[in-house]
Amino acid sequence: MDHTRRRVVVGTATAAATATLGLPQSGARAERKEEADAGIDVHIELHAVQEPVALRPGAPTRVWRYRGKLLSGNASALEASDATYLGPIIRVRRGQRVRIDLINELPEPTIVHWHGLHVPDTMDGHPRHAIAPGQRYVYQFTVLNRAGSYWFHPHPHGRTGAQVYFGLAGLFLVSDDEEAALGLPGGRYDIPLVLQDRSFDGNNQFVYLGSSLLGSAADDDLDEPPTMGGGMMGGGMMGRGMMRGGMGSMMARMMGVLGDDILVNGRPSASLSVERRPYRLRVLNASNTRIYKLAWDDGSPLIVIGTDGGLLAAPVRRDYVMLAPAERIDLWVNFARWPGGSELSLQSLAFDGAMNMGGMMMGGGSLPDGAPFQVLALRVEGDSQGSQEAAPPAPLSETASPDPSVAVNSEHPKIFELTMRMMAWGINGQSFEMLEASPYETVKLGTHELWEFRNEATSGMMGMAMPHSMHVHGVQFRVIERSVSGRFARYDERARAGFVDEGWKDTVLVMPGERVRILVRFADYPGLFLYHCHMLEHEDGGMMRNYRVRA
Ligand code: C2O
Ligand code: CU
Ligand code: CU
Repeated sequence: MDHTRRRVVVGTATAAATATLGLPQSGARAERKEEADAGIDVHIELHAVQEPVALRPGAPTRVWRYRGKLLSGNASALEASDATYLGPIIRVRRGQRVRIDLINELPEPTIVHWHGLHVPDTMDGHPRHAIAPGQRYVYQFTVLNRAGSYWFHPHPHGRTGAQVYFGLAGLFLVSDDEEAALGLPGGRYDIPLVLQDRSFDGNNQFVYLGSSLLGSAADDDLDEPPTMGGGMMGGGMMGRGMMRGGMGSMMARMMGVLGDDILVNGRPSASLSVERRPYRLRVLNASNTRIYKLAWDDGSPLIVIGTDGGLLAAPVRRDYVMLAPAERIDLWVNFARWPGGSELSLQSLAFDGAMNMGGMMMGGGSLPDGAPFQVLALRVEGDSQGSQEAAPPAPLSETASPDPSVAVNSEHPKIFELTMRMMAWGINGQSFEMLEASPYETVKLGTHELWEFRNEATSGMMGMAMPHSMHVHGVQFRVIERSVSGRFARYDERARAGFVDEGWKDTVLVMPGERVRILVRFADYPGLFLYHCHMLEHEDGGMMRNYRVRA
């Protein structure tokens, strides 16, 4: 591709792209007026850019990242940090009207998805809405979600894994009156922890399936954007890059990419100093494929106050929590529990991870699925006097138990079997099709349905036992039940104690051999939405489908 021309496109395409979207072209002043008219509370410009960032001693790491610019609204709506490649933290209140302009300054198509948010289908960041380099996509929506920790990331066809891996992701935190009334730890005592794993090459560059953002291999790869609107083949096993990196890379492309280093908030070897008082820790697993089994190193229980869709009815205790890609967990912790000067750590404990072909899967990196490692080192500051064991507020929210009998199919849950055929991932045997949703995948606006994800078809095939992290766009759902068939009980049993199925969820871990039944309500917005495995190489490889909400 011609680099000079591309740069010109970036400079001039804004007006054209705006016109394409049917919005009036306007200068800054006219735009502000238009915003006031539309009742916009927060207006952010989000640039997807390529930049170097210093992550390790030596050469800077080339990343793709979001750069935010607050055009109108409260200054607290946007919090950026130069210490990380992660996108700015966007903070809004429930009920606010938000406008976000995505500007694509990457060398390939992209689009942003607001993970967990309940928005119209044209605002959801479906791959059919991906924009070319230099173009702008204007999002406008009202924040209807409960207070909670949502996030945003790219969602272009077949390239979500690569774009997230190279750094594109950010938090979208919603607050509301119910949450504010609780007086939970706030400000610098409310700390997001975004967990990711990455592999670096000798030159400090992220390596994704044998490619980095520097070097000839990477250029080669990135200068050939995937075809837009392509069918099943685009991002699958047979896509480009198959020839590169050999057998290990091929396996990783199919089974999932695991990094050797654990990064917290975009920093390797992360550590944190805390005071002897309560904190709120919002943990997001933004890794491509890795599952975490989180625990304190001294065996202290984790106190969980929230999940994907906000606060639980009341706090729950777990010895450990399983956190699959895209899941969030909100922890309340009183560090007064430990004497001043203590060193402690948040760990990921060993578990029965994915297995395939005699355990040789996952590229053979130094940190296989299910291996134990340290996530975050903490140091408790202050003297060891006067510890007060405060408890989290309870109840936390008005969250009633779900009632599965409200589902229109309460007698016959819809079954979604997670499958692999001809070396391609799928759901009920079908891989992704850009604009298709089958009659089975069509639901009626305003109804509830029971859906059941079954991870049985591929489990046992070629000795494979692969967990999946199932996500439904545009909704928050409730987990109704889990069950497991006999021979996989061992995976389930130990993981089960680490699930937090009590609250509102948008992503749920389905272990090998497991069935997970959920209750979903399809409200407000007709249209075409995605559901898929959030292990990003599975998603890019076809374990994704549309569902249609019919008015
Ligand atoms: Cu975070 Cu389609 O997902
Ligand atoms: Cu999503
Ligand atoms: Cu999967």
